[in-house]
Amino acid sequence: MCGIVAGIAERNVQDILLEGLRRLEYRGYDSAGLAVLDEQNQLHRRRRVGKVAELGQALAETPLIGKAGIAHTRWATHGSPTELNAHPHISSGRVAIVHNGIIENHAPLRAELKALGYNFESETDTEVAAHRIAYYLDRGDDLLQAVQHVVAELEGAYALAVIACDDPGRVVACRNGPPLVVGFGIGEHFVASDVQALLPVTQRFSFLENGEVVDLRRDEVAIYDREGDRVMREIRVSGLTAGAIDRGQYRHFMQKEIFEQPFAISETLEGRVIEDRPLSPGVLGVAAEALLPQIEAVQIVACGTSYHAGMIARYWMEEIANIPCQVEVASEYRYRRHVVLPNSLFLTLSQSGETADTLAAVQASRDEHYLARLAICNVPESSLVRESELVLLTHAGPEIGVASTKAFTTQLVALMQVVLLLAQSRGADAAVMRRLRGELLQLPGLVEKALALDPLITRVAERYVERGHALFLGRGAFYPVAMEGALKLKEISYIHAEAYPAGELKHGPLALVDADMPVIAVAPNNDMLEKLKSNLEEVRARGGELFVFAEPGVALENGPGMNVIEVPGGSGMLAPVLMTVPLQLLAYHTAVFKGTDVDQPRNLAKSVTVE
Ligand code: AGP
Repeated sequence: MCGIVAGIAERNVQDILLEGLRRLEYRGYDSAGLAVLDEQNQLHRRRRVGKVAELGQALAETPLIGKAGIAHTRWATHGSPTELNAHPHISSGRVAIVHNGIIENHAPLRAELKALGYNFESETDTEVAAHRIAYYLDRGDDLLQAVQHVVAELEGAYALAVIACDDPGRVVACRNGPPLVVGFGIGEHFVASDVQALLPVTQRFSFLENGEVVDLRRDEVAIYDREGDRVMREIRVSGLTAGAIDRGQYRHFMQKEIFEQPFAISETLEGRVIEDRPLSPGVLGVAAEALLPQIEAVQIVACGTSYHAGMIARYWMEEIANIPCQVEVASEYRYRRHVVLPNSLFLTLSQSGETADTLAAVQASRDEHYLARLAICNVPESSLVRESELVLLTHAGPEIGVASTKAFTTQLVALMQVVLLLAQSRGADAAVMRRLRGELLQLPGLVEKALALDPLITRVAERYVERGHALFLGRGAFYPVAMEGALKLKEISYIHAEAYPAGELKHGPLALVDADMPVIAVAPNNDMLEKLKSNLEEVRARGGELFVFAEPGVALENGPGMNVIEVPGGSGMLAPVLMTVPLQLLAYHTAVFKGTDVDQPRNLAKSVTVE
């Protein structure tokens, strides 16, 4: 989704803002732009369709000199990705604005502004905000007052950053939905869509809440609430460093993140799971000890890959903790009426903690009778974490590739911890609990072994490049693993992939199976194996080509139409985590062979901050 960086300093800001945009590239975008105010208080702007590198090239040829500026990566919503639609938008030559989100009442505002004589250059909803600010400046407002007036009129979800020739000593920004973080330097201050963008200039941050407006000056930062009252906000020092988003020796961030999984999982276990000791409820927050024994049902809500993690956890929750568990995608949950079971926990999963649908579902849950909201999230400063009473952080480290990998496997590790906490609180068998803790502790080593399949999977992927479609099959907790494998493949290789519970094959999708349809199956050595084998025979009998990721002992032989790739065993209930790793590698290598943009696949955004 769109990314914002803006700031005011004693030095030229172009390169700071450009570097910020580079560090926001992972969010996904289709054009980029930057504007500054020069020493004569004139606005200058460059915009380019395509990558930040193209904007960088334009700025290298003709730099923009100015000590206050705003910059943006645009993920098109209103109007196609053209230079005219790219941000910053300028009104009347004096107000420049960047925007993340959607202004829902842009149409009536546009009509009103046109009637007042304002000219629209773009098809965007953003331009109405630029003209509206110019309108209030004309009526005598300073920039802060103008933004406050406009914020009161806008409907929808948005973050804005604005500079104006009329009021050159400040950058004004606001948040109503998409995140905005304030970065504190010495004699310079910034705002950005996330902390990563500003790490080269500061590690000191505050987080804007919805409805707040921030007035940045070189020597001061003032934050105002919806009513216009000044609020004091704590400054936090981030533990992240600017280097944390380097690709290192890897060709892509996604590849690096796949290979970081043993470490990310260890970090997510660290200090929480010890083989011979029950987990401490305190890891979820102080209220957890009293709450956990009261929980009789769990509702999980998430999107995309995080939703798949929730689907796997449902099997664990019901089997290990004996607690009824429902899972729903947030974009559906937020818009329907629910029957909430008594003493239910509302559990959200999100890598970013900024997914608009998940945040809206949390809001919706407040009007329902949940005992508490628990967030499993990878970003400690995120909106989701701030809005949940209980939190379990995944310590995956920054995930830059749009296709989620280590965030998924660490979510599963965190989910298993929640399942164990609930099971313990209901007096689960101590030996079973100990065995599961042991399985968690062995997982990093087993994932390391699964990663050793990389050269073999590269050769398998080579055979996929020319295929247009793929079917993924799994049963039980391995059905969501198949869904995740299919999502990875379609996201980054653009190969159409669908996942089915293997038993559903004969109810329709079998009609698709022929020699051109690769079928990828996940085969754990469990009590459903014989059923799965029958499903695989159904594929084979119709000439389909099978690629089976199998645990040791499944006794499937390589042969015509049957390719077996053995995945390490011994992971017990955590086998869905281990089985995911080769599917990630398969998607990755297929995309590399196809030559797609692995880390920033077309049309997708890392942090989905609009509905
Ligand atoms: C995963 O590969 C996706 N890019 C996407 O489905 C993602 O998981 C989804 O948008 C949810 O994001 P979140 O975990 O940050 O809430």
